[in-house]
Amino acid sequence: MSNILYFETLDSTQSYLKQHHSELNDQTVVTAGTQTAGRGRFDRRWISEPGGLYFSVLLKPTKTDFVANFTQLMALCICQATERYALQPNLKWPNDVQVNGKKLCGILSEAVVQNNQVACVVLGVGVNVAQAGLSQVGQPAVSLRELGVNVAQEDFLQAVLDLFFAGYPAVVADGFRAICSAYKERFPFVGKQIAVKNVASAVTGIVEDISPRGTLLLRTAQGPQEILIGDLIV
Ligand code: BTN
Repeated sequence: MSNILYFETLDSTQSYLKQHHSELNDQTVVTAGTQTAGRGRFDRRWISEPGGLYFSVLLKPTKTDFVANFTQLMALCICQATERYALQPNLKWPNDVQVNGKKLCGILSEAVVQNNQVACVVLGVGVNVAQAGLSQVGQPAVSLRELGVNVAQEDFLQAVLDLFFAGYPAVVADGFRAICSAYKERFPFVGKQIAVKNVASAVTGIVEDISPRGTLLLRTAQGPQEILIGDLIV
């Protein structure tokens, strides 16, 4: 069982673990009722009002070849936990979880590097569970409550952590291959025309597949491209 630290309010569970990682054990989880400075991918703000589930997981893997795939495992586990409520979530590469095209969950992965080595990875997860008025920032969002599911944040958290730590050793050892088929079953974008944006650039094309290492394979006007990071825009 992982050690779970609960705070009513924090600036960011992610920042907390990054600041305290050296004093804390592998697989420590920090959760907060609200965050005053929640952070999203690409330096975006993550609005963290009461009712949402906000947590970060500290990981100190002994083998670091596949740390980039930990977020994909987490996204898959959020999907699997959501499916228990007769919903049909899907994955939006690399690690968003959607229901009916609206964002249910976002995940931020950050590595702390010391002496050219990964000292730890902090995975931060925001799930729209039961916020009163959900902020529709950037893209449409939806909460479990709006979908008719009444679940306590701590129960959903425990279900996700059980799934995550059951799958984690296989992903540490084998990377995306360990979850490839389960991930692809929930990825509905193959054959679709999309754009992928990151801070530096945007690429458009048709999704061919997800590669065995978890990257996005696109067919663009200039030829095939393998995308390592970005936001998929449908
Ligand atoms: C995204 O941009 O979609 C990722 C959002 C990640 C938000 C979570 S909430 C818990 C943890 N603490 C943070 O400050 N961010 C992550």
